[in-house]
Amino acid sequence: MKNKINYNAPEDIKDLDIVNLFELEREAKNVLPKDGYDFICGGAGDEYTLERNIEGWNKKGILQRVLADIKYPDTSTTILNQEIKLPVIVSPIAAHGMAHESKEAGTAKGVAEYGGSIMSISAYSSVSFEDIEKGLQGNNRWFQIYMSDDKEVNKNVIDEAKAVGASAIILTADTNVDGRRERNIRNKFIYPFGMPIVARYLKDGADDTSSDTVYSRKKLNLSVEDVKFLTDYSDLPVFVKGIQTPADAIKAIDAGVSGIWVSNHGGRQLDGAPSSFETLEGISNVVQGQVPIVFDSGIRRGEHVFKAIASGADVVAIGRPVLYGLANGGWKGVKSVFEYFEKDLKTVMQLSGTQTIEDIKHTPLFEYSK
Ligand code: FNR
Ligand code: LAC
Repeated sequence: MKNKINYNAPEDIKDLDIVNLFELEREAKNVLPKDGYDFICGGAGDEYTLERNIEGWNKKGILQRVLADIKYPDTSTTILNQEIKLPVIVSPIAAHGMAHESKEAGTAKGVAEYGGSIMSISAYSSVSFEDIEKGLQGNNRWFQIYMSDDKEVNKNVIDEAKAVGASAIILTADTNVDGRRERNIRNKFIYPFGMPIVARYLKDGADDTSSDTVYSRKKLNLSVEDVKFLTDYSDLPVFVKGIQTPADAIKAIDAGVSGIWVSNHGGRQLDGAPSSFETLEGISNVVQGQVPIVFDSGIRRGEHVFKAIASGADVVAIGRPVLYGLANGGWKGVKSVFEYFEKDLKTVMQLSGTQTIEDIKHTPLFEYSK
């Protein structure tokens, strides 16, 4: 039995007047079916880590500065030589169709209409590469893979991603088994539609909606050899996503990655873990600028973007906020989320006397005494 989705009517595509993203989340709850909303908002276990991803930001402070030229805060930056107007990109998120009938194509259009960012395309997208392409309007796209046990499947997916112009591969390494997500267990959640990118490569021709089959084929013995395979085979920059310790960052760098993706999967995997932000500084201290760092999990304000960059991230990525924008306003809602971040980050930059992303990188955060 498939879940029924009560999509927003297409005319609900609208700009959003976002005061803050916590309110946007509450509004999304009103327009989404319960199991879909729970799938998106939820975390693992007690959702301690999910909450800590927000509380953890208060571990450090930003100092206000005065007598500084703050006329033209510039949020533009580059990562892997790709220029973006804001250091905020889209995390790989499964099944955007849970949020809006325009699915990933709507998100892609929102990103493009905002003026560009990098869209990470989940292996568990609810539409094909071709449909995402229609919305993207030439924007940068990175492809996220979950490694399968079947090497041919991995090769096929990479071939396809390259054919549609993926300019980096993200190996998500923290979700080869799922965290225990109690909301999904209670709701008996199943994906209500297919995952055409991965499903078409299943050898036994399992149908699109059979996400269990896809899950059951994730590789449980991931190693540095797999990272090497991806870098060699794809000939693209590879990120390992899900890094939470300095030791794993070093392992990934030794395996030849082009970037580290610091993330605790938005608190959906190991409950009881610290906030992703609390792990960032230790990791960036060992990475020492050898490769860029993308940070995600808990980014909801300009303040958070600032603190992550001041702690060693090059750019941050957002997960749930994208889907809440999509749920409430379709592609225009996604655009509004990016506009909200730009405006809020500029204000934080001005109040802290910084003019560029490079300035933020050189701004020490305030350490509260223990
Ligand atoms: C995710 N995330 C995720 N990550 C990934 O690598 N592949 C995926 O398919 C998904 N799917 C997915 C679905 C949903 C509904 C969510 C909320 C998250 C994790 C995602 O990339 C990112 O790490 C977190 O969402 C970041 O935390 P915030 O921004 O949601 O707090
Ligand atoms: C999730 C998987 C798809 O977090 O990564 O739901």
